[in-house]
Amino acid sequence: MRVVRTVAEMKAARAANTGLVPTMGALHAGHVSLLDAARRENDHVVVSLFVNQAQFSSAAEFARYPRDEQRDLDLAERAGVDIVFAPAAEELYPPDFRTWVDPDEHGLEAAFRPGHFTAVATVCLKLFNIARPRLAYFGQKDAQQVEVVRRVIRDLDLDVELRVLPTVRDADGLALSSRNALLTPRQRDRALALPRALETRDAARARELLNGIDVDYVEVADFEPRVLAGAIRLGSVRLIDNVPLEGEDE
Ligand code: PAJ
Repeated sequence: MRVVRTVAEMKAARAANTGLVPTMGALHAGHVSLLDAARRENDHVVVSLFVNQAQFSSAAEFARYPRDEQRDLDLAERAGVDIVFAPAAEELYPPDFRTWVDPDEHGLEAAFRPGHFTAVATVCLKLFNIARPRLAYFGQKDAQQVEVVRRVIRDLDLDVELRVLPTVRDADGLALSSRNALLTPRQRDRALALPRALETRDAARARELLNGIDVDYVEVADFEPRVLAGAIRLGSVRLIDNVPLEGEDE
């Protein structure tokens, strides 16, 4: 496994039949399920580790995002990754960087995180252009992100195919998230209300079950597939989750 730090080196290492797994590191079993799928379906697997500051709501939120590169490299190696692309911030966003991709996304996450999906769309387009994957792997956990990336690929005629994998959960139902590491034991307990509420697959019932919790939204979203999606806050930690209302996932 090679660790690549520059765009030039990553471009030089491009290979045919590549599967790309974009991540922000702090890898967990959800990320590993994407790596495993990429390993099964491609000759060459690239994982990117890049904590994309522009997609965070504040400098404080970015600063406390969990980071553990050595552990990520070990997990990537065990998953059979060929290349870890882990550039410094200035490598992807030099001081004179000005061009952003605006996917014109509204509602749900976009309503609570202005600019978030512009930052996600921009970094994904950059990663696709740099690594030139045939397939790119994303988690259904971030259903709205999948919608946005699918639209960017379609609208900008990108030669990459999206693969979407089901949400991986802890035994008690909590969706795995790098942010779970920031929860106190008591907050983690309270967080279980989110998957339990969404599991009802009924927005009104879910809102009732979340009574007493700081809820940003619980809504049916007309994505592919349709989902019941929710976002809650526990102290300064914000968690999102969704359950498909149709199709084969869960
Ligand atoms: P990150 O939160 O690190 O997630 C990387 C990928 O793992 C995303 O596609 C996400 O949906 C998926 N993932 C996260 N938790 C999961 C779970 N419990 N089960 C299955 N998949 C899961 O999403 C991002 O990073 C960034 O926005 C990124 C796309 C890398 C752009 O910066």
